[in-house]
Formats: sequence, C-alpha cells, structure tokens
Amino acid sequence: MKAIVQDTYGSADVLKLRDIDKPAIGDHDVLLRVRAAGVNPADWAIVGGLPYIARPLYGMGRPKNPVRGTDVAGEVEAVGAGVTRFRPGDEVFGWCGQLGGAFAEYASVAENALVLKPTRLTFVQAAAVPMAGTVGLLAVRDHGQVQAGQKVLVNGASGGIGTFAVQIAKSLGAHVTGVTSTKNVDLLRSIGADEVVDYTKVDFTRTGLRYDFILDNVANRSLSDLRRALTPKGMLVPNGGGFDHRWVASGGRLIKAKLSFAFVSQTVRTFIAKSKQENLLVLRELIEAGKVTPVIDRTYPLSETPQAIAYVGQGHARGKVVVTVINGATA
Ligand SMILES: NC(=O)c1ccc[n+]([C@@H]2O[C@H](COP(=O)([O-])OP(=O)(O)OC[C@H]3O[C@@H](n4cnc5c(N)ncnc54)[C@H](OP(=O)(O)O)[C@@H]3O)[C@@H](O)[C@H]2O)c1
Repeated sequence: MKAIVQDTYGSADVLKLRDIDKPAIGDHDVLLRVRAAGVNPADWAIVGGLPYIARPLYGMGRPKNPVRGTDVAGEVEAVGAGVTRFRPGDEVFGWCGQLGGAFAEYASVAENALVLKPTRLTFVQAAAVPMAGTVGLLAVRDHGQVQAGQKVLVNGASGGIGTFAVQIAKSLGAHVTGVTSTKNVDLLRSIGADEVVDYTKVDFTRTGLRYDFILDNVANRSLSDLRRALTPKGMLVPNGGGFDHRWVASGGRLIKAKLSFAFVSQTVRTFIAKSKQENLLVLRELIEAGKVTPVIDRTYPLSETPQAIAYVGQGHARGKVVVTVINGATA
C-alpha cells in the first residue's frame, strides 16, 4: 500500500510517499481502507520529534512507527477474530492510536477507538473530528462543566479545537466569545459565537470583561493576564502552544499555571486527550443533532501530506486540515 513515512525526525520534508506492507491487525483491531485522515499540530510536532521528553514513547533516534496521523475515517476492510462491533463495509471514524498510522491507504485501528460515521458527514468531515472534537468536548463539558448562561471565552477559536469548542459550548447554552484574527471573524459568527474578539485589534485580557471559563488554545497571554479575565470562581484550561520549548513543550507553562492558581479562588485544569469510544459517541450525537459541524479549512491528497503538515505547523488553520486517500489511487 502507499503510505507517507518518515525514517528520521525533522521538518515535514522528511516525509516521503512510499510503498509499504499493509498493517497487521490483532484480534481486537479493524483494518480500515482509509478515505481521509485529519491533521493535528501533534502530527507536525511528532514529525519533528518534539517535545524531546516524549521520544521514549515515539522512538528515541527515529520514530517507532514511521507513519504519522491519528485521526482517521474510512471503510472496514477486515476485522480481527475478536471484533464484535464492526464488519466489512462499515463506514467509521476514530483514532489510530498514539503512534499514528492514518496517512496511508490502510490503517489498523483498535475496535474500541472507532464509531460508525454519522451519515450526514463526508469522510473528510468525519476525519476532522477525533482529536480536536475530543479535546473540545473534554475541555468544555468535562473539565469546564460549562452550564447554560455561563460566559465562555475560547482563545484560538478558529482553529481545529476552537471550532469544536465554540459549537459544544453553544450546545450547552453558554454565551460564547471567540478570539481570532480579522479574517476569521465571520467564520466564528457562522458557527454560533455570540461575540468575536479580533486579537489584532483588542486584547481580551484588558477589556474589563470577565469569563466563567476560558479555553486557551494559544498561550500568547501571561497567566496573570488570563486570571484577570476570569470571574472570581472562573476556570482556565490552558491547552496549547509551546512547541518552541523543544524539551517539554507546554509542560513548563502548565506547571506554572498549577502554581499560580494554587492559592486563589479561580481554578485551572490541564489534561492530555486520549482516545475513548464514549467521547466519539457523544460527538457523533452532537453532529447528528446538527449541533456540531466540523469546519474544514482545506484538503490535500495523500501525496501532499508534507504540505498539509507544514501548513498546520504554521498555527493558523481555519478549522481542520484533512488528507484525502482515494481508494488505491493516490493523487
Ligand atoms: N490537551 C491535549 O490533549 C491537546 C490535544 C491536541 C492539541 N492540543 C494543543 O491545542 C492547541 C490548539 O490546537 P488546534 O488543533 O486547535 O490548533 P490549530 O488548528 O493550529 O489552530 C490554531 C488557532 O490559533 C489561532 N491563533 C494563532 N495565534 C493567535 C493569537 N495570537 N490569538 C488568538 N488566536 C490565535 C489561529 O487563528 P488565526 O489564524 O486567526 O491566527 C488558529 O485558528 C495546540 O497547541 C495543540 O498542541 C492539546
């Protein structure tokens, strides 16, 4: 099969289109004929072997799995002996596992990391959901426990996670403010944001307005500035930025956040999203109910995965970037 592989860490140029063996599947795995694979900032980071602290997981000198890509949508080609929920021909989406494997014609995926694709979504839209949708859901629903009427602010609202978080917070009845640049103001309004702050004109930490919950996908404001924008019992989820710190990425900021919130009435919650079928099921329900629709920035054919990853690595995606795989005929 054709796959995008990396033999070494580096910029997106280390990724090459090559013929490799189809992945083997275990008893509880599904072999997917990949139709689309979502791109995340994590793909860009792992291509570069960042942060260094994660290399024991991904591979010290070179990646253990040469194929990147966690978010996948496709058709079930074959199932392991112990698989009970899926059969060949099912259209599904989910997570390929932490070590990747989605930027290829076929992928092996654990049965419990997949759900049936909502019929109203294309494969491209479905492949946009797993990681960004899960992070948005965990941040807003589980950690933020956002309630109807609460004031929510999403910094980095027009990106992959932000576009899900805005819609999920709206589905919970929150009053949502999205922070983005001028070119994405209309996009945020179109997905339901009540207020939009253009960061090229206004610093949301200096308006005097206070929020019950802030999801920060950017890390471009100091922790004390973010605290000033929270209500006295408000909560911050600092969720991003930081790959310029090559050893620990955002780890240092997260530790600082825990310390700076330790003795105040406001709270901070941090988490690393993992694949969980029950979260994908909730996202599917939200999608089927028309409350959440993935926002697609652009698609790239499998052969142009390096360009897709380099684009996401610039940090200005408008919703999600997705790689398309055309059944055996890679463009
Ligand atoms: N906790 C976890 O488990 C977890 C999982 C996945 C990802 N993450 C992290 O979450 C972060 C966001 O991921 P993502 O997939 O949403 O990234 P993304 O798709 O690349 O989106 C980044 C967004 O940030 C916006 N942005 C850039 N500079 C900004 C600024 N100064 N002020 C406000 N917005 C700004 C961009 O909007 P403009 O184009 O308008 O600038 C863009 O829409 C990343 O750092 C990622 O590593 C965490």
